[in-house]
Order: sequence, then C-alpha cells, then structure tokens
Amino acid sequence: MKQDFSRKVYWPSKKVSREAWVNRESVYVAAERNPLKFWEGQAENLAWFKKWRKVFVQGPNGFKWFVGGKLNMSYNCLERNISAGLGNKVALRWIPEPKNEKIVELSYRELLEKTNRFANALRRLGVKKGDVVGIYLPMIPEAVISMLACARIGAVHIVIFSAFASDGLNQRLKVTRAKVLITSDGYYRKGSKIDLIEKVSAGIEGTNIKKVICVGRQGFGRNRRGWISFEGLLKNESDMCEVEEMDSEDLFFILPESGTGGEFIPIMHTCGGYAVQALTSGRFVFDFHEGDVYWCTGDIGWITGHTYGVYSPLLNGVTSVFYEGALNYPNKERWAEIIEENHVNIFYTSPTAVRMFEQEAGRKIDSFLFKNLKVIATVGEPIDEYAWKWFFEKIGKKKASVLDTYWQTETGGVVISSLPGVGPFRPTFAGRVFPGVKVGILNERGGRTKLNETGKLVMFSPFCPGMMRGVYRDEKRYRRYFAKGMKVYSLDDLAFKCPDGMIKIVGRADDLIKISGHRMSTVEIENAVSSLSGIEECAIVGRSDTLKGTVPVVFVKAKSGITEEQIVRRIVEKVGPIAKPSRVYFVEDLPKTKSGKIVRGILRKLVEGEEAVDVDVLSNPESLAGIRKLIKED
Ligand code: WTA
Repeated sequence: MKQDFSRKVYWPSKKVSREAWVNRESVYVAAERNPLKFWEGQAENLAWFKKWRKVFVQGPNGFKWFVGGKLNMSYNCLERNISAGLGNKVALRWIPEPKNEKIVELSYRELLEKTNRFANALRRLGVKKGDVVGIYLPMIPEAVISMLACARIGAVHIVIFSAFASDGLNQRLKVTRAKVLITSDGYYRKGSKIDLIEKVSAGIEGTNIKKVICVGRQGFGRNRRGWISFEGLLKNESDMCEVEEMDSEDLFFILPESGTGGEFIPIMHTCGGYAVQALTSGRFVFDFHEGDVYWCTGDIGWITGHTYGVYSPLLNGVTSVFYEGALNYPNKERWAEIIEENHVNIFYTSPTAVRMFEQEAGRKIDSFLFKNLKVIATVGEPIDEYAWKWFFEKIGKKKASVLDTYWQTETGGVVISSLPGVGPFRPTFAGRVFPGVKVGILNERGGRTKLNETGKLVMFSPFCPGMMRGVYRDEKRYRRYFAKGMKVYSLDDLAFKCPDGMIKIVGRADDLIKISGHRMSTVEIENAVSSLSGIEECAIVGRSDTLKGTVPVVFVKAKSGITEEQIVRRIVEKVGPIAKPSRVYFVEDLPKTKSGKIVRGILRKLVEGEEAVDVDVLSNPESLAGIRKLIKED
C-alpha cells in the first residue's frame, strides 16, 4: 500500500534543537501577541547611527518600518562584525568552476577593504546616493563587493542575472534608468567560457549607461575600449571609505521581477526593515551561529541570492560558500564534494536541484557522510514527497532539520517555514508562519477559508519589515498588490492550512510559471516567439516536469518554413537559456473564446494529459482535436 507520506510529521533532532537560537514555542506566542515588539527587539541586534522613533506606521498609501532610524547595510555586514572580533574570520569562500583554479577566501576585514576601495572608486566616478547602478555579474567575489560598495555609498543596485539575454538586460536597465554598469568579461559554465562582452555591448544600447566597469575573470583577459577595468580602479583607491548614513526608508535596491503580462515589475526594497528581516530570518530559519559554514546555491540575480546569498549570512557573521559553476559539473557529485570539502553545515538550494541530485545519484552518493549538516532547506517552488524524502534521508541523514521556505521577491525574506529547532517538518508543506507575520487564506468572496480548504494566500498589516515598499516609478502597479487601504497584501499563491498550523502551498493563482524555481512570465516568452516574422499566433503554458518543476511548452500557428529550432533559438536569444521550451507544437488553430482570446487554461490541462475540458467557452472547439492528437503522438 502506498504510504501517505505527507501526513507524517518530523521533529528536530535533540542536538539541533538544543543548540538552536530558537527552540521554544513561546517565541511564537510572544511574537503573535505583539509583532511590533518582536521586530523591534530583533532590530536592536543591528548597529544604528540613529535609533528609530516609531517601529511601524501604516497609512492609506503605504507603510513604513523603523521610522527615523539611520543605518548602513555594509557597515552592519562588515564593521559591526569586525568590532565583534570576526575580522579574521572568512566571510566569503569563493569556489571557481574549474577545479584547477584557486579557491579565494576573503575575511571580513579583507572584504571591508575591497568594498571600501570599490566604493571610493564609484564615488570618484560620480556615483552618488540614490543613483542606480546595474550589476550584471556571474557568481564571483566582485559581485558581492559591488553590492556592498553600492550599499556603502547609498547607490541603489539592480542586479541582473548573468544568464539573461541582452534583451532582458536592456529592458531591466531601461526600466531602472541605471547610469553605471558593472560586468565581467565572462565566466565558466559547464566547462564553457561564457562571453559577456558582446551581450553587454548590445544590452546597453539606448539605455542611460554612461560607464561600464568590467571585471577581468581569470583566463578571459578581455575588455572593450572605453570600459573601465575593475582591478585598475581598486589599485588607486584607499581602503578607508566613509559610510553613507541611510534612512530606514531610503531606497536600498531594485529587483525587477516578471509580471504576468510579460512586463518587468521593478520591486523596491528599503534599508532598515530589509536589514532587520535579513538578520532575523537568517538567525531563526538557518540558525546561523559563529562557527557555521553556509552555502546558498541561488544566484545573486534572484532575490534568494540577495537576501540569503549575500546579506543575511554576512549580517549574521557566518562563512559563506560562493560557487561559480554548475552543481553537477565536472562530475555529477560536485555539489556533494563542495559540501564535504568545505565543511558546509547549512545548505540552501532549490527543489529542482534536489531532484537533479536524486536523479543523477549513483552508489557514490552513499560515500558522502554529510556529518556536519544541521539544516538543509529549499526555496522557490513546492517540493514533492519523493524528493523531500530523498533529501532528508540521503543528505540530511535523518538528523538534519529539513525546511521548505516560502517567500517572494516582494516579501524580501522568508514568511513561511518551520524553524529548525522547533519543527515540525512535514513533507510537501512549507510549514508554519514565521513569528511576527500574519497570513490568511481567503475564499472567492474574500472570507476566511475553513481548515484544509484551498484559497488565496494573503498577508495582513504590518506584513514584515523586509516587505517591498514600492514599484519603481509605478505607484499604481504597487497598489494593485494590496487591498483594504493597503492593509491586505495578496501573494497570488493558492494554499491551505491544516489544523496543526502547517501551511501547504498549492501553486500560483496567476499565469506565472516557476522554471527550476525561477519566476518567469509566459507572456514574456510569447513575446519573444512573436518577434519572429512568420508567427501568426502563439500561446505558452507550463507543463509539469520531473526535473525543473515546470517547463514552457509552445503552441504556434506559423507560416510554413518556420522550424522548432528557430523558435527555441529565438527564445534563448531573447529571454535566456532558462526559458528554453521542452516542446513546440505547430497547430492549425488555437482554442479561443467568443471574443477571440486564447484560452491558455485549456491548453494547460491538455498538456497535463487531462481529457475533460470545458469547451463551452470556446468559439472553435474543433481546434482541440488537432492539438490533442499532437500531444498524444509525443
Ligand atoms: C513560489 C523566490 C512553494 C511561489 C524566493 C512564490 C514557492 C514565488 C516556495 C516567488 C515554496 C517560493 N513552496 N512555492 N517553498 N517558495 N515559491 O519572487 O509561487 O522568485 O509566490 O521568490 O515562488 O518567487 P520569487
């Protein structure tokens, strides 16, 4: 008989629980009774140049945290830890993809010196508080240095995932009006040399970029005339640099996310609240302690890489492993070697990565003992029971706390996850709501759902300190996220809650898809396809995939002569390899409503193998026969 695994609940090991910062239920009780007091207490752990006057204010047009407070993120990540005696401790342990290249370690003091030099250089180039700086860098130490240097002088960074195509770079730079771009000549990926110079040259066309700073990645040695060398800049600068005193509510960074219409939503985060949540959630969720070695596999181009790849581990004074390459290159167990060789004891990755580890694992995996691991966690998409169990047994060796952390670019940090020292952990369930955060699940009429009933997940004011504070230059779009005088925020996910308080995320309530845990809009991919001449109509839907969670599937009505290969190539060029479709179906007609709208919901059902679809809404139900046939033939 098939075991219903997800009903089973697990608890932390005695050791993990005993040593954890948080191991008592009372933390939840106190935070629920008075969330503002809870967050205020956490904020005391940061260094403030000036203390806040008020913890939280809510008005009809928005809300603020730690009003009147002044602080600086780079000071908190660096000097605050150095003063606490961590100057010589390794902050960053960078592992290049080529195994024969040297690992680079930067202590907290060295990271401060480099950050200061680069911050001085940025100032000398005319970058001031509030200016927007683009960072289009792979996973190399200069990425962290660049982010911290921006934070130091109050420049607003916008990091663009280095695997995005030049079009995506271009649009993101335009939407944020960045003036300076920091990039590199290239990086390694699965043994190939990936060139960034050409992509950048095309990507900055028609933008406000006045200066390009280029890191010379070892083994590449290229630059373009007129671009400034990163290394050259550092040489001439002092390693002392005054910090900018930032207001809690000053803009800290912008991160454009995909909206359902294929547009970019440049989400804004501010200084004070974000720092408080990054520090606190790192301590609570990952249980960061001084001796820990932590590895987050998320790229800095995504929010996970911002909050839990850079800021949270540094704020918490741990050693962070930062890896350039593919997790399964040059050998399938590369990720496991990295954990073992670096004594990683906290590991944060995606369900897609776990599925890949599981699918590729041979006998060799059992030779890794993973003795150090105390917390292993995933983010970005739901994790299925099988992958969860494999993760728990083979990696966590049934003793590490397994967390499924749920959050969004918009929330800045984790909002749902069980805590490693408290538990419980239940496969496929994100877990309990983070202390001090209030969520609800609403039915179609806006009322509360009953237990075990699926509805839309919302968060109530005061939300969380790291919550976004706006959409860059688009107040209207920002307001669309909220209801009831900006006191209710919709996460656009479907979820239900069990009697024990555990929340299960069922999936998105909109047309966004998560490919390998990365958020993509199907419309953005459709736009790329439609840019090919000869495409008459196109619709893209997500199909479940055993590795990537969801992959795009393309339906096109095209002039003869257009090939599948052309379409795939166009998507990779315009959006990036991440959006590569698993299949392109050439159809005679797409299912449409009477008003001519393509019904993607029906296509979604068909690609998942569901036979029963509601054809009453269609003006051309006969279109389905051909589509069904194509899918069946696969
Ligand atoms: C999804 C990533 C299920 C969800 C940090 C959310 C998840 C979107 C989980 C945000 C999880 C994230 N279980 N679904 N543990 N974590 N999601 O902005 O749909 O890239 O709204 O932030 O990912 O994606 P984003």
